[in-house]
Amino acid sequence: MAYESSLALSLTPYTAGEQPKIPGLIKLNTNENPYPPSPRVAEALQGLADSLRLYPDMEATALREAIAQVNGVVPEQVFCGNGSDEVLAFAFAAFFAGKTLAVPDITYSFYPVYAKLFGVALHTVPLREDFTVDVPAMQAEGPIALANPNAPTGVRLPLERVRTLAEHCRDKDAVLLVDEAYAAFAEENARPLMDDFDNVLIVRTFSKSHGLAGLRLGYALGSRRLIDALRRVRDSFNSYPVDRLAQAAARAAILDTAYTEEAVRRVKATRDGCAEALRALGYQVLPSETNFLFVRADETDAAPVMQALREQRILVRHFSAPRLKAWLRITVGTQEEMERVVEALGRLKA
Ligand SMILES: Cc1ncc(COP(=O)(O)O)c(C=O)c1O
Repeated sequence: MAYESSLALSLTPYTAGEQPKIPGLIKLNTNENPYPPSPRVAEALQGLADSLRLYPDMEATALREAIAQVNGVVPEQVFCGNGSDEVLAFAFAAFFAGKTLAVPDITYSFYPVYAKLFGVALHTVPLREDFTVDVPAMQAEGPIALANPNAPTGVRLPLERVRTLAEHCRDKDAVLLVDEAYAAFAEENARPLMDDFDNVLIVRTFSKSHGLAGLRLGYALGSRRLIDALRRVRDSFNSYPVDRLAQAAARAAILDTAYTEEAVRRVKATRDGCAEALRALGYQVLPSETNFLFVRADETDAAPVMQALREQRILVRHFSAPRLKAWLRITVGTQEEMERVVEALGRLKA
């Protein structure tokens, strides 16, 4: 008899990008921000140590008010969790358990893991040849989840197409989950849909645009009804997922909109310049609306290119799935880091 439950034995856990301790490494494998968070974060954390004696505000009231203000919604339409990964997990449990969920075949690789954990059947819909979402094919039984812009491709589905999916889900009494981890780097986001749909759940993170991957703070925007369902799941699991330090730091970060806009502007400028330079070298680069580039680094398998970059202390991400294996996902770092990447890929092409 095994000690482990059959559920535990049946899981195939998510594999996160590695966090190696190599001196001088240019780390471009997990889509972190190359810039630190707003200086207001450090100020907000000052003197909080003594307050850690007490449990945090389980509703994260002040943080939710700040998120609501910045997004033009009311706090009852905001839910906070320990990273958007946790918010996504709660959403899978709240809205998809026992149902068949349509997802693109190429998307954030945590979705199949949560599907397995929470008893969600997946209807996997291949992306089209150009890595865009096949909107008609996504409209099957009921709920839909997609990352937009998508990971690891960086490609964004236009808002009007997302609206079509929202309408389909509404007709089926189902939730459309739009994972907007990278929306701050995109030209459009799904926020306008919230005015027309009570079945659209938008999930965002502080990990990318706000330079706070180490804080673990994610949030959802949705109708009061959807937010209430997330709260029910949270309180059936862990009533205090967001600690006092995270609440204070994230609040300071989201209210410093000028700082975030500038950091995002710099990342986008570096991204677009780097994409152009790589295309000039003959590489195919997908149009990115994120803080990473998806680059076709080989005809068939880019694993040796990843290895060659690693030997030059540049760490990028390679996926071995058949449709992805010729490509590398390269996080946008500082201007100097990306110049090193272009130089290295230039040498490898020569
Ligand atoms: C599409 C997508 N969603 C969610 C996440 C998780 O972000 P967080 O750090 O908030 O858990 C990531 C992280 O890489 C992501 O790429």
